[in-house]
Amino acid sequence: MSDIYPVKPGFAERARIDKAAYERDYAASVKDPEAFWGKAAERLDWYRKPTVIKDVSYDLADFHIRWFGDGELNASVNCLDRHLDARGDKTALIFEPDSPDSPARHVSYRELHERVCKLANALRELGVQKGDRVTIYLPMIVEAAVAMLACARIGAVHMVVFGGFAPNSIADRVGDCGARLIITADEGLRGGRKVPLKANVDAALKLPGTNTVETVLVVRHTGGAVDMQMPRDRWYDAVVDPQPAACEPERMNAEDPLFILYTSGSTGKPKGVLHTTGGYLLFAAYTHEAVFDLREDDVYWCTADVGWVTGHSYIVYGPLANGATSLIFEGVPNYPDFSRFWNVIDRHQVTIFYTAPTAIRALMREGEAPVKQASRASLRLLGSVGEPINPEAWRWYYDVVGDGRCPVVDTWWQTETGGILISPLPGAVDLKPGSATLPFFGVQPALVDAEGKRLEGATEGNLVLLDSWPGQMRTVYGDHQRFIDTYFKTYPGTYFTGDGCRRDEDGYYWITGRVDDVINVSGHRIGTAEVESALVLHPKVAEAAVVGFPHDIKGQGIYAYVTLVAGEVESDELLKELVAHVRKEIGPIASPDFLQWAPGLPKTRSGKIMRRILRKIAENAPDQLGDTSTLADPSVVDSLVKNRHGA
Ligand code: WTA
Repeated sequence: MSDIYPVKPGFAERARIDKAAYERDYAASVKDPEAFWGKAAERLDWYRKPTVIKDVSYDLADFHIRWFGDGELNASVNCLDRHLDARGDKTALIFEPDSPDSPARHVSYRELHERVCKLANALRELGVQKGDRVTIYLPMIVEAAVAMLACARIGAVHMVVFGGFAPNSIADRVGDCGARLIITADEGLRGGRKVPLKANVDAALKLPGTNTVETVLVVRHTGGAVDMQMPRDRWYDAVVDPQPAACEPERMNAEDPLFILYTSGSTGKPKGVLHTTGGYLLFAAYTHEAVFDLREDDVYWCTADVGWVTGHSYIVYGPLANGATSLIFEGVPNYPDFSRFWNVIDRHQVTIFYTAPTAIRALMREGEAPVKQASRASLRLLGSVGEPINPEAWRWYYDVVGDGRCPVVDTWWQTETGGILISPLPGAVDLKPGSATLPFFGVQPALVDAEGKRLEGATEGNLVLLDSWPGQMRTVYGDHQRFIDTYFKTYPGTYFTGDGCRRDEDGYYWITGRVDDVINVSGHRIGTAEVESALVLHPKVAEAAVVGFPHDIKGQGIYAYVTLVAGEVESDELLKELVAHVRKEIGPIASPDFLQWAPGLPKTRSGKIMRRILRKIAENAPDQLGDTSTLADPSVVDSLVKNRHGA
């Protein structure tokens, strides 16, 4: 039943990688990873070329992951300095502001280099040293990329916090990584609304555990009033502008940390995913070039936020390492109207467009008119990332946005993987709507059943990866054991992704979504445990259980079951208060869509909450509850079904 969109002959002819090359190089990459990645490493500039390529063992007795272990390089030099001769005047970044009436800006490689060097010098002057952690909490403005690259230049480890996170979430992350300095802005702008970034930082720094922070650099962005606390707070321009425009880069070992990025898991607090310099940068650059079939004159736009891994790998590091032109968009798809994306594409003659299924579904709902009023003639390739794309949305993207001309690359990967692992290469692989298709070079996916038995042929199971790739995360910051326990213990000898997956008769992979307690809301990962802990922090809440449910636009929504402390009264006001409480604790992205009062929760006799049942109730599939006889009190289920939201 799955239809096939063969590689377009015109596209294949000019593509970097055609079918024969993909098949040949994939086979070679798996057969001899050392040779393959040793050669691939030549695409970076090294102070010292690596001679040891791959040094990996998933064996728990001798667990380690090292790539290019004796190589030395600097990521900012690879993204900037080495382009200056040939591409100094080429646009590195295009800034498209929130309002289409504000001017867009082009930043050349030469100017970006200068701005990065100045900030890097300023950071050094402020005492930031190699290995120190720097938090970046900025809107989608050029300074976000500048800040990341300036850290990389001096060997500081950046930790970007998404601008939508609330003070508590900032404080948790800052505290966990022990950041010494924070770079923020007065305010952000999204869809015409102001986001009080500096005020959020102020509130975060009042919370316990954040006293490692010595300095807050504040970018003047909107010009809004902020409370500057001297001597801690410094205006970015006052400190950065007077600096020299050249800065000696730090020689980094390939395995020195480049950044930490927090992501949600199935249990506990978000994990600090740590990526290192050589393998990560190489993998981001290589995948960016191959998957997007990059050409010198492309104008490439990824709509993600730099607060997520997609922004790290495919707005900043991959594109800039490749000398590409990358667009940074401050705004949102529906402001000032639903044509915004398509107008930006026309305005900047974007050739490659990379966005998330949730945005596609939201825009699809508005019909074709807002798309058709823009020409989009510059487009040649479309990409999707962050969650499974349903075939209907895929087809709309292909037919309406791309006018049937542009291949769609559905790219599967994770914060942990650093870069794209499963995706079509557009000149090599026939497309099937809804399938991420085939693995990238060196990537060996496999499916296993719950007991870890390998499943062959067309089948469905848990997705694992049999071997390492250079962009793989190296540790959970400050908790290496958690890294090993989370990813390498479930199915020994493999990396477990947490995703379920189907493989069809052509060997194509179809990601079905998370099999753990992580939910994917509009492409953002949220741990059910995080929302539950936020809810039980409220004095009136005794217990909470949170599950995902299918949502037309967001992919998944958040459904919370809440048991109140004895004596507290259920009311609509309290319900609203609890939703607001979660927004305040974590941030707007974690707001429950539905909250249902649960006088009791379905538990086993040993007290474990049976989430399977709660998921089915949230999905409105009460006929699929399965066996409830093992519950301590089966009657709670009937009451939950009866009082389901919308029932
Ligand atoms: C999901 C985002 C299906 C998946 C890059 C994964 C996808 C999680 C796709 C990682 C895709 C990402 N098709 N599912 N093309 N891309 N996912 O860490 O469940 O924010 O495990 O990284 O998103 O989310 P993360």
